[in-house]
Amino acid sequence: MRHVYLVTFFVAALLVSILGLRGVTFTRPPLDVFPEWAFPGMKYQPKFRPQAASEFFADGRSDRMPPEHTVMRGMLAEDDHFYRGKDNAGAFVRSFPSDLTVNLALLERGRDQYAIYCQVCHGVSGDGNGITLRYGMGSLTTNGNYHTDRIRAMTDGELYNVIVNGSASKVMMPYADKLVPADRWAVVAYIRALQRAQQGTAADVTDAAARQTLGIQ
Ligand code: HEC
Repeated sequence: MRHVYLVTFFVAALLVSILGLRGVTFTRPPLDVFPEWAFPGMKYQPKFRPQAASEFFADGRSDRMPPEHTVMRGMLAEDDHFYRGKDNAGAFVRSFPSDLTVNLALLERGRDQYAIYCQVCHGVSGDGNGITLRYGMGSLTTNGNYHTDRIRAMTDGELYNVIVNGSASKVMMPYADKLVPADRWAVVAYIRALQRAQQGTAADVTDAAARQTLGIQ
């Protein structure tokens, strides 16, 4: 028991002297404890690192281009309405894609995504009075106010397109990398809800009890 520390120290010193210190640059390869010839495995597979050269291919590159007119599996974005907000003729659509149901769940999803990605600039109610306004994001209350006639008149496809490609002047950057197509439509639906919310009139309140509470004749 007395020699435990001593023995441990010598074993450690012995191992380091045989195997060498790891993490140090060697002039010769360090001793291989499990040599490939004795333990054939996948340790030394031939492989190409990204953007490496290759003598096998005529163009000398190891990276291969996808064959022409092919699409990666699961990446076929065929539906123009859903993926680009356009109809077959290339005009911006005035409706939501048919495979999306506009319901409360979609609006709630839109509200969540709006709060994460848009609200800092466009504000809780969409009037452009977000926190970034105080830090110099100037054109928000004019060009980024959803309650102006100009943005109210924008079609659903155009709103979708702003999310994909940014604003017309490119002052607002695209959000396509943050929102998947279904979520972009959810945000568009929520923008419509925000716009509708600012346009309510007394006539919208149809419930008799609610009318009484609000004092509407
Ligand atoms: C970093 C701040 C910022 C964020 C975040 C932001 N916007 Fe904007 N947005 C702007 C500004 C600034 C404008 C005015 C653009 C201009 O002057 O061209 C604008 C304009 C717009 C317009 C009108 C575009 C046009 O061409 O007139 C729409 C629609 C819009 N934003 C939607 C969104 C949506 C949806 C999101 C979230 C996915 C979002 N924005 C996130 C800053 C932002």
